Amino acid sequence: MISVSFLKSKYSKKETIQLIEDSKADFIHVDLMDGIYVKENNFTIDEIMDLLKNVKKSLDIHLMVYNPLIYIKELVKLKPSIITIHLDGTPNIEETIDYLKKNDVKVGLAINPDENEHIIDNYLDKIDYVLIMSVYPGEGGQKFIPEVLEKINYFEDKLLIGIDGGINEDSIKLLKNYHIDIIVSGSYICMSDNFNERIDELNIK
Ligand code: DX5
Ligand code: ZN
Repeated sequence: MISVSFLKSKYSKKETIQLIEDSKADFIHVDLMDGIYVKENNFTIDEIMDLLKNVKKSLDIHLMVYNPLIYIKELVKLKPSIITIHLDGTPNIEETIDYLKKNDVKVGLAINPDENEHIIDNYLDKIDYVLIMSVYPGEGGQKFIPEVLEKINYFEDKLLIGIDGGINEDSIKLLKNYHIDIIVSGSYICMSDNFNERIDELNIK
């Protein structure tokens, strides 16, 4: 499945979201940054709620924020399919996971390129999804880090598996022999003239 991030695009945010809506993408990947967990800061919660309020496609929300529970309490109103958080940005992890579960949202934990796959061992039986970061969180259009692929096999048959960052026509070839459920791609799709053509190129499973 393909989840499209609108973080880096040649169209306006509104236009990009509409183009993803109208495309074959399985999810809209919503990257939210607070200027604390990562340097960049993109939307306030009101702005993001407004941008997404009429969206029909499934939402896959990626919170690159400190203390995501504050955001989650608003975001659940959008009925997202998945919300992914970072362990090192989440002081109240048990409470946050429980809140998501209670609201019927799939819980994802992201693993940064410099983090070991075992950092989420204590939560494997509580979560649904692991997001392997193939770039450092913070901006779209970065280069794929191939070393992160070594972490994938550990999660096979344990969780839904996603990969996020730097996916394009070259890096996609490196993913062929791995079990990956959700491929997140941003600039490769949103900097193009034809979203469906690019989605087809990446949709290897
Ligand atoms: C990185 C974000 C990614 C990014 C993907 O901070 O979490 O989702 O927007 O975009 P590309 O495909 O351009 O790396
Ligand atoms: Zn992301």
